[in-house]
Amino acid sequence: MRLQLETLTTAALLLGEAGAIQLPLFQSRPKTQAHLTADRELVSSSAYQGQVKADNLLKRAKELYKIAELGEPEYNHPTRVIGSKGHIGTVDYIYSTIAQLGDYYTITNQSFPAVTGNVFESRLVLGHDVPVSATPMGLTPATENKKPVFAPIVAVSNYGCEESDFPSDVKGAIAFISRGTCPFGTKSELAGKAGAVAAVVYNNEKGSLSGTLGTPTPNHVATWGISDEDASPVLKHLKADEKVDGIAYMNAMVETIQTTNIIAQTTEGDPQNCVMLGGHSDSVTEGPGINDDGSGTLTLLELATLLTQYRVNNCVRFAWWAGEEEGLLGSDYYVSVLTREENLKIRLFMDYDMLASPNFAYQVYNATNAVNPVGSEQLRDLYTEFYADHGLNYTYIPFDGRSDYDAFIRHGIPGGGIATGAEGIKTPEEQKMFGGKAGEWYDPCYHQACDTVSNLNLTAWEWNTKLVAHSVATYARSFEGFPERKKDSVGALAVKEYKYHGPRLVL
Ligand SMILES: *[C@@H]1O[C@H](CO)[C@@H](O)[C@H](O)[C@H]1NC(C)=O
Ligand SMILES: *[C@@H]1O[C@H](CO)[C@@H](O)[C@H](O)[C@H]1NC(C)=O
Ligand SMILES: *[C@@H]1O[C@H](CO)[C@@H](O)[C@H](O)[C@H]1NC(C)=O
Ligand SMILES: *[C@@H]1O[C@H](CO)[C@@H](O)[C@H](O)[C@H]1NC(C)=O
Ligand SMILES: [Zn+2]
Repeated sequence: MRLQLETLTTAALLLGEAGAIQLPLFQSRPKTQAHLTADRELVSSSAYQGQVKADNLLKRAKELYKIAELGEPEYNHPTRVIGSKGHIGTVDYIYSTIAQLGDYYTITNQSFPAVTGNVFESRLVLGHDVPVSATPMGLTPATENKKPVFAPIVAVSNYGCEESDFPSDVKGAIAFISRGTCPFGTKSELAGKAGAVAAVVYNNEKGSLSGTLGTPTPNHVATWGISDEDASPVLKHLKADEKVDGIAYMNAMVETIQTTNIIAQTTEGDPQNCVMLGGHSDSVTEGPGINDDGSGTLTLLELATLLTQYRVNNCVRFAWWAGEEEGLLGSDYYVSVLTREENLKIRLFMDYDMLASPNFAYQVYNATNAVNPVGSEQLRDLYTEFYADHGLNYTYIPFDGRSDYDAFIRHGIPGGGIATGAEGIKTPEEQKMFGGKAGEWYDPCYHQACDTVSNLNLTAWEWNTKLVAHSVATYARSFEGFPERKKDSVGALAVKEYKYHGPRLVL
């Protein structure tokens, strides 16, 4: 590193030895920093990757678990769910880590309103039966006055996606609606408009049904999901014009709180051409979320720290989203308030959510140009080439709205990402490809209290962090060969409705 004499002297005076020059110096001396940065070498994938060490990631994971413990007094176990002390601690940790890097980044706190729901108690009776599969939908409101209601059950025609599907006797009744065609939230809303006191959505495929109503509307009514199996005796009676009564009881609360996205953008690099990447800072209520998405969060934090040793040609923008687990709230908000000019500056968005699952597979989102903004596929291929070059196997997984890339691709911004698996089951073939255990979840602690430091595979985490470094270095150097954003591409793409919006089913 070549330093200007004046700078060197100041640094030596302040720190005692030139070799230990630290960034705090730059905070008060932006001009000096510009000189220094110009002397740094341009980021290269191999040098940047070479600095990624599993031990450093593990150290951060232990710190993050301590932060999750701040949520314990209120929740009886460690958690980093939005609104908890564990999440506030996480946001503080991210902010202060970046702030310590001086003027290399411009940091923004982006506060936004987030809806959270809590079901305290619920009961559903259909005829004489208590359906074992009955699951309150996420963000469901309570039944009136949080009291049980006794009411007839009335079948809704088709999929309950049109007002005309709701017969007039739904008024005062429990609406019984098939899953399909439109989101659960739409069905609940139309049921409420038709005067129903509650709604039950039954599965149109095998198994139980657990989903979320999504953004609350004034007409939502208390809503459950049940399995096809639990629905079939009720449907039989209703089809035979026999009366079936039910009891619906939901004691639940939906409230709006403020939470915060953290965005850090390099002060250098072409601000008209940004490479953006993100992970989510929050966990579910049930656990500390060290793999989901502590792993992605800390990979970004570690790489943001290492990047300060280099110069970049293009701007690099890191994001730590809040409210992902409640339905991609932070990333949705961020993209929704971008002006057209700001939208066009983002050349691509890379999603890093769950990089260290204990029973991992190297999964690459199958983001093709055919059905996503052009450039998504170039990014997909960058990932697969990396795995192939290192003799590692990979699989493609659906790019279907389950994480924070969703808002970006809906607004014309190319996107993609990698993951290591959540509640999916490893196949025997994948066991040959990745090791681990076939027949078990990729992450057996997904969304549970056991998503702790011991729920990380460090081999997978280190490789994936190197791959994230590779993705950042590649685009921070150059977008040559990467498709230009088209001026008319902002929100121009009609992305089809996905079954997921975040980790929970919406459709
Ligand atoms: C941004 O958030 C961090 C972390 O909570 C906090 O320490 C900091 O004061 C906030 N900064 C601004 C400008 O609001
Ligand atoms: C990837 O997505 C495309 C559609 O965009 C599809 O044709 C292809 O079969 C998918 N590949 C895999 C392996 O899922
Ligand atoms: C990749 O998968 C094949 C089986 O399809 C397996 O034989 C090979 O060992 C795997 N490679 C690695 C590095 O795990
Ligand atoms: C991580 O995965 C690799 C490859 O499957 C395995 O060899 C290693 O034992 C795992 N490490 C941990 C800590 O689970
Ligand atoms: Zn996640």
